[in-house]
Amino acid sequence: MKIAESTGALQGTIKEWRKQGLSIGFVPTMGNLHAGHISLVNEAREICDKVVVSIYVNPLQFNEASDFESYPVTLKDDQAKLEKAQADLLFLPNSDVMYPEGEKSVSKVSVPDIGDMLEGECRPGHFDGVATVVNKLFNMVQPDTAFFGQKDYQQLLLVKKMVRDLNMPVTIQSVKTQREADGLAMSSRNSRLTAMQRKQAALIYSTLQWLVERLKDATVDVPELERQAIEKLNTAGFETEYVSLRSSDNLKPLRSPESGAILLVAARLGDVRLIDNLMCS
Ligand code: PAJ
Repeated sequence: MKIAESTGALQGTIKEWRKQGLSIGFVPTMGNLHAGHISLVNEAREICDKVVVSIYVNPLQFNEASDFESYPVTLKDDQAKLEKAQADLLFLPNSDVMYPEGEKSVSKVSVPDIGDMLEGECRPGHFDGVATVVNKLFNMVQPDTAFFGQKDYQQLLLVKKMVRDLNMPVTIQSVKTQREADGLAMSSRNSRLTAMQRKQAALIYSTLQWLVERLKDATVDVPELERQAIEKLNTAGFETEYVSLRSSDNLKPLRSPESGAILLVAARLGDVRLIDNLMCS
Protein backbone atom coordinates (compact mmCIF):
# COMPACT_ATOMS: atom_id res chain seq x y z
CA MET A 1 0.00 0.00 0.00
CA LYS A 2 1.31 3.42 -0.96
CA ILE A 3 1.16 6.27 1.53
CA ALA A 4 0.75 9.90 0.47
CA GLU A 5 0.94 12.80 2.89
CA SER A 6 0.78 15.62 0.34
CA THR A 7 -1.72 16.44 -2.40
CA GLY A 8 1.14 16.26 -4.93
CA ALA A 9 2.10 12.70 -3.93
CA LEU A 10 -1.57 11.64 -3.94
CA GLN A 11 -2.28 13.11 -7.36
CA GLY A 12 0.97 11.77 -8.88
CA THR A 13 -0.10 8.19 -8.16
CA ILE A 14 -3.70 8.76 -9.21
CA LYS A 15 -2.57 10.32 -12.50
CA GLU A 16 -0.55 7.17 -13.27
CA TRP A 17 -3.58 4.98 -12.58
CA ARG A 18 -5.79 7.19 -14.74
CA LYS A 19 -3.30 6.86 -17.63
CA GLN A 20 -3.74 3.09 -17.33
CA GLY A 21 -7.52 3.55 -17.56
CA LEU A 22 -8.12 2.30 -14.01
CA SER A 23 -11.19 3.30 -11.97
CA ILE A 24 -10.74 4.85 -8.53
CA GLY A 25 -12.79 4.07 -5.41
CA PHE A 26 -12.50 6.33 -2.37
CA VAL A 27 -13.23 5.70 1.33
CA PRO A 28 -12.89 8.84 3.49
CA THR A 29 -12.42 8.12 7.22
CA MET A 30 -11.20 9.68 10.45
CA GLY A 31 -9.20 6.58 11.38
CA ASN A 32 -9.38 4.28 14.42
CA LEU A 33 -10.57 1.77 11.86
CA HIS A 34 -12.90 -1.11 12.68
CA ALA A 35 -14.78 -3.74 10.67
CA GLY A 36 -17.35 -1.11 9.59
CA HIS A 37 -14.66 0.91 7.81
CA ILE A 38 -13.12 -2.24 6.35
CA SER A 39 -16.50 -3.27 4.88
CA LEU A 40 -16.38 0.01 2.91
CA VAL A 41 -12.87 -0.86 1.65
CA ASN A 42 -14.04 -4.35 0.67
CA GLU A 43 -17.02 -2.94 -1.22
CA ALA A 44 -14.71 -0.46 -2.99
CA ARG A 45 -12.39 -3.29 -4.02
CA GLU A 46 -15.35 -5.15 -5.56
CA ILE A 47 -16.44 -2.18 -7.67
CA CYS A 48 -13.23 -0.26 -8.48
CA ASP A 49 -9.73 -1.12 -9.80
CA LYS A 50 -7.90 0.96 -7.19
CA VAL A 51 -8.94 1.88 -3.66
CA VAL A 52 -7.87 5.10 -1.94
CA VAL A 53 -8.56 5.51 1.80
CA SER A 54 -8.05 8.79 3.65
CA ILE A 55 -7.52 9.25 7.36
CA TYR A 56 -7.99 12.77 8.65
CA VAL A 57 -9.58 13.83 11.94
CA ASN A 58 -11.30 16.92 10.63
CA PRO A 59 -11.39 19.69 13.27
CA LEU A 60 -14.01 21.61 11.27
CA GLN A 61 -16.74 19.04 11.97
CA PHE A 62 -16.29 18.80 15.76
CA ASN A 63 -18.56 21.15 17.66
CA GLU A 64 -17.06 20.11 21.02
CA ALA A 65 -13.33 20.62 21.61
CA SER A 66 -13.23 17.73 24.11
CA ASP A 67 -14.70 15.32 21.52
CA PHE A 68 -12.00 16.37 19.01
CA GLU A 69 -9.20 16.11 21.57
CA SER A 70 -10.28 12.65 22.77
CA TYR A 71 -10.87 11.26 19.27
CA PRO A 72 -8.83 8.01 19.22
CA VAL A 73 -5.77 8.03 16.94
CA THR A 74 -4.37 4.55 16.14
CA LEU A 75 -2.40 5.04 12.94
CA LYS A 76 -0.13 1.96 13.12
CA ASP A 77 -3.10 -0.37 13.68
CA ASP A 78 -5.09 1.38 10.96
CA GLN A 79 -2.25 0.96 8.49
CA ALA A 80 -1.98 -2.78 9.25
CA LYS A 81 -5.76 -3.22 8.79
CA LEU A 82 -5.68 -1.41 5.46
CA GLU A 83 -2.70 -3.47 4.22
CA LYS A 84 -4.64 -6.61 5.11
CA ALA A 85 -7.75 -5.31 3.35
CA GLN A 86 -5.58 -4.60 0.27
CA ALA A 87 -6.22 -0.89 -0.01
CA ASP A 88 -3.93 0.60 -2.67
CA LEU A 89 -3.25 4.07 -1.31
CA LEU A 90 -3.56 5.68 2.10
CA PHE A 91 -3.90 9.47 2.03
CA LEU A 92 -2.77 11.01 5.32
CA PRO A 93 -3.04 14.78 5.05
CA ASN A 94 -2.38 16.99 8.07
CA SER A 95 -4.11 20.29 8.77
CA ASP A 96 -1.45 22.25 6.83
CA VAL A 97 -2.44 20.24 3.76
CA MET A 98 -6.21 20.42 4.37
CA TYR A 99 -6.46 23.98 5.69
CA PRO A 100 -3.27 25.87 4.75
CA GLU A 101 -4.88 29.19 5.71
CA GLY A 102 -6.42 27.75 8.89
CA GLU A 103 -9.78 26.01 9.15
CA LYS A 104 -11.46 29.18 10.44
CA SER A 105 -10.95 31.03 7.16
CA VAL A 106 -11.70 28.23 4.70
CA SER A 107 -14.58 28.63 2.19
CA LYS A 108 -17.41 26.41 3.36
CA VAL A 109 -20.03 24.19 1.77
CA SER A 110 -23.40 24.19 3.49
CA VAL A 111 -26.20 21.74 2.66
CA PRO A 112 -29.63 23.08 3.65
CA ASP A 113 -32.65 21.05 4.85
CA ILE A 114 -31.03 17.66 5.46
CA GLY A 115 -28.11 19.47 7.07
CA ASP A 116 -30.32 21.53 9.42
CA MET A 117 -32.23 18.83 11.31
CA LEU A 118 -31.39 16.06 13.85
CA GLU A 119 -27.56 15.93 13.98
CA GLY A 120 -27.46 19.39 12.39
CA GLU A 121 -29.61 20.76 15.20
CA CYS A 122 -27.78 18.92 18.02
CA ARG A 123 -24.30 19.65 16.64
CA PRO A 124 -24.26 23.18 15.18
CA GLY A 125 -21.70 23.53 12.39
CA HIS A 126 -21.02 19.79 12.24
CA PHE A 127 -22.44 19.18 8.77
CA ASP A 128 -20.82 22.27 7.24
CA GLY A 129 -17.55 20.78 8.44
CA VAL A 130 -18.38 17.38 6.94
CA ALA A 131 -19.60 18.79 3.60
CA THR A 132 -16.56 21.05 3.31
CA VAL A 133 -13.96 18.38 4.03
CA VAL A 134 -15.69 15.77 1.84
CA ASN A 135 -15.86 18.31 -0.99
CA LYS A 136 -12.14 19.06 -0.61
CA LEU A 137 -11.23 15.37 -0.45
CA PHE A 138 -13.31 14.64 -3.57
CA ASN A 139 -11.49 17.44 -5.42
CA MET A 140 -8.12 16.09 -4.30
CA VAL A 141 -8.78 12.40 -5.09
CA GLN A 142 -11.30 12.80 -7.96
CA PRO A 143 -12.74 9.33 -7.45
CA ASP A 144 -15.26 7.60 -9.71
CA THR A 145 -17.11 6.18 -6.70
CA ALA A 146 -17.00 7.13 -3.00
CA PHE A 147 -18.24 4.85 -0.23
CA PHE A 148 -20.23 5.90 2.83
CA GLY A 149 -21.75 3.84 5.65
CA GLN A 150 -25.47 3.74 6.46
CA LYS A 151 -24.43 3.96 10.12
CA ASP A 152 -24.20 7.73 9.54
CA TYR A 153 -27.43 7.82 7.54
CA GLN A 154 -27.93 11.59 7.67
CA GLN A 155 -24.32 12.14 6.55
CA LEU A 156 -24.91 9.74 3.64
CA LEU A 157 -28.00 11.70 2.49
CA LEU A 158 -26.17 15.00 3.00
CA VAL A 159 -23.24 13.92 0.79
CA LYS A 160 -25.64 12.60 -1.87
CA LYS A 161 -27.49 15.95 -1.89
CA MET A 162 -24.24 17.93 -2.08
CA VAL A 163 -23.12 15.84 -5.07
CA ARG A 164 -26.50 16.33 -6.79
CA ASP A 165 -26.76 20.05 -6.00
CA LEU A 166 -23.21 20.87 -7.10
CA ASN A 167 -23.05 18.46 -10.09
CA MET A 168 -20.02 16.71 -8.69
CA PRO A 169 -18.78 13.92 -10.98
CA VAL A 170 -18.75 11.12 -8.40
CA THR A 171 -21.11 8.23 -7.62
CA ILE A 172 -21.99 7.72 -3.96
CA GLN A 173 -22.29 4.10 -2.87
CA SER A 174 -23.84 3.25 0.49
CA VAL A 175 -22.74 0.29 2.62
CA LYS A 176 -24.81 -1.38 5.33
CA THR A 177 -24.07 -0.90 9.03
CA GLN A 178 -21.70 -3.42 10.63
CA ARG A 179 -22.65 -4.38 14.18
CA GLU A 180 -21.08 -6.09 17.18
CA ALA A 181 -22.54 -9.45 18.27
CA ASP A 182 -24.98 -7.72 20.67
CA GLY A 183 -26.20 -5.35 17.94
CA LEU A 184 -24.24 -2.22 18.88
CA ALA A 185 -23.25 -0.39 15.70
CA MET A 186 -19.47 -0.39 15.34
CA SER A 187 -18.04 3.07 15.98
CA SER A 188 -14.68 4.58 16.82
CA ARG A 189 -16.35 6.16 19.86
CA ASN A 190 -17.27 2.73 21.34
CA SER A 191 -13.70 2.35 22.58
CA ARG A 192 -14.30 5.28 24.95
CA LEU A 193 -17.11 3.45 26.79
CA THR A 194 -16.39 1.85 30.16
CA ALA A 195 -17.08 -1.91 30.42
CA MET A 196 -20.37 -1.13 32.14
CA GLN A 197 -21.41 1.47 29.54
CA ARG A 198 -20.42 -0.90 26.74
CA LYS A 199 -22.97 -3.44 28.07
CA GLN A 200 -25.68 -0.76 28.36
CA ALA A 201 -24.95 0.51 24.85
CA ALA A 202 -26.58 -2.57 23.27
CA LEU A 203 -29.92 -1.13 24.41
CA ILE A 204 -29.83 1.38 21.55
CA TYR A 205 -30.20 -1.31 18.90
CA SER A 206 -32.67 -3.43 20.89
CA THR A 207 -34.82 -0.31 21.39
CA LEU A 208 -34.74 0.36 17.64
CA GLN A 209 -35.81 -3.24 17.00
CA TRP A 210 -38.59 -2.93 19.60
CA LEU A 211 -39.81 0.23 17.86
CA VAL A 212 -39.78 -1.39 14.42
CA GLU A 213 -41.96 -4.23 15.78
CA ARG A 214 -44.43 -1.76 17.35
CA LEU A 215 -44.57 0.27 14.11
CA LYS A 216 -45.94 -2.73 12.23
CA ASP A 217 -49.27 -1.64 13.73
CA ALA A 218 -50.34 1.14 11.33
CA THR A 219 -52.58 2.75 13.96
CA VAL A 220 -49.81 3.22 16.51
CA ASP A 221 -49.30 6.71 18.02
CA VAL A 222 -45.82 7.58 16.70
CA PRO A 223 -44.96 10.57 18.96
CA GLU A 224 -46.07 8.55 22.01
CA LEU A 225 -43.92 5.60 20.90
CA GLU A 226 -40.92 7.90 20.40
CA ARG A 227 -41.47 9.23 23.94
CA GLN A 228 -41.61 5.69 25.35
CA ALA A 229 -38.35 4.79 23.60
CA ILE A 230 -36.63 7.88 25.01
CA GLU A 231 -37.90 6.95 28.48
CA LYS A 232 -36.63 3.36 28.11
CA LEU A 233 -33.14 4.67 27.21
CA ASN A 234 -33.07 7.40 29.84
CA THR A 235 -34.17 4.98 32.58
CA ALA A 236 -31.19 2.80 31.66
CA GLY A 237 -28.80 5.73 32.11
CA PHE A 238 -28.70 7.34 28.66
CA GLU A 239 -29.23 11.00 27.97
CA THR A 240 -31.26 10.70 24.80
CA GLU A 241 -31.13 13.58 22.31
CA TYR A 242 -33.68 12.19 19.83
CA VAL A 243 -35.54 9.11 18.74
CA SER A 244 -37.38 9.97 15.57
CA LEU A 245 -39.34 8.30 12.76
CA ARG A 246 -38.45 9.92 9.44
CA SER A 247 -38.80 9.47 5.70
CA SER A 248 -35.64 7.73 4.47
CA ASP A 249 -35.63 9.95 1.33
CA ASN A 250 -35.45 13.39 2.94
CA LEU A 251 -35.62 12.82 6.73
CA LYS A 252 -38.94 14.69 7.03
CA PRO A 253 -40.72 13.67 10.29
CA LEU A 254 -43.47 11.04 9.97
CA ARG A 255 -46.51 10.93 12.23
CA SER A 256 -47.56 7.44 11.15
CA PRO A 257 -45.66 4.38 9.92
CA GLU A 258 -45.32 4.23 6.14
CA SER A 259 -43.10 2.44 3.65
CA GLY A 260 -39.61 3.89 3.35
CA ALA A 261 -39.56 5.00 6.99
CA ILE A 262 -36.37 5.04 9.05
CA LEU A 263 -35.84 5.39 12.80
CA LEU A 264 -32.91 7.49 13.95
CA VAL A 265 -31.48 7.83 17.45
CA ALA A 266 -28.77 9.84 19.20
CA ALA A 267 -28.00 9.27 22.87
CA ARG A 268 -25.17 9.96 25.27
CA LEU A 269 -23.68 7.54 27.76
CA GLY A 270 -21.50 9.66 30.03
CA ASP A 271 -19.58 11.89 27.64
CA VAL A 272 -19.76 9.45 24.71
CA ARG A 273 -22.34 10.33 22.09
CA LEU A 274 -23.69 7.41 20.06
CA ILE A 275 -25.93 7.41 16.97
CA ASP A 276 -27.74 4.60 15.17
CA ASN A 277 -30.64 4.02 12.82
CA LEU A 278 -32.85 1.24 11.49
CA MET A 279 -35.02 1.03 8.36
CA CYS A 280 -38.59 0.05 9.18
CA SER A 281 -39.32 -2.24 6.25
P1 PAJ B 1 -15.73 8.01 10.24
O1 PAJ B 1 -16.61 8.16 11.43
O2 PAJ B 1 -14.34 7.52 10.41
O3 PAJ B 1 -16.47 7.06 9.22
C1 PAJ B 1 -15.95 6.82 7.94
C2 PAJ B 1 -16.98 6.03 7.15
O4 PAJ B 1 -17.19 4.76 7.77
C3 PAJ B 1 -18.34 6.74 7.09
O5 PAJ B 1 -18.88 6.63 5.78
C4 PAJ B 1 -19.16 5.96 8.09
O6 PAJ B 1 -20.55 5.98 7.84
C5 PAJ B 1 -18.59 4.56 7.91
N1 PAJ B 1 -18.88 3.72 9.09
C6 PAJ B 1 -18.60 4.01 10.40
N2 PAJ B 1 -19.07 3.03 11.21
C7 PAJ B 1 -19.65 2.11 10.39
C8 PAJ B 1 -20.32 0.87 10.62
N3 PAJ B 1 -20.51 0.38 11.85
N4 PAJ B 1 -20.77 0.18 9.55
C9 PAJ B 1 -20.61 0.68 8.29
N5 PAJ B 1 -19.99 1.84 8.01
C10 PAJ B 1 -19.52 2.55 9.04
O7 PAJ B 1 -17.81 9.67 8.88
C11 PAJ B 1 -16.69 10.15 9.01
O8 PAJ B 1 -15.61 9.42 9.49
C12 PAJ B 1 -16.36 11.58 8.66
O9 PAJ B 1 -17.48 12.39 8.88
C13 PAJ B 1 -15.85 11.76 7.20
C14 PAJ B 1 -16.92 11.33 6.17
C15 PAJ B 1 -14.55 10.96 6.98
C16 PAJ B 1 -15.53 13.25 6.95
O10 PAJ B 1 -14.57 13.73 7.84
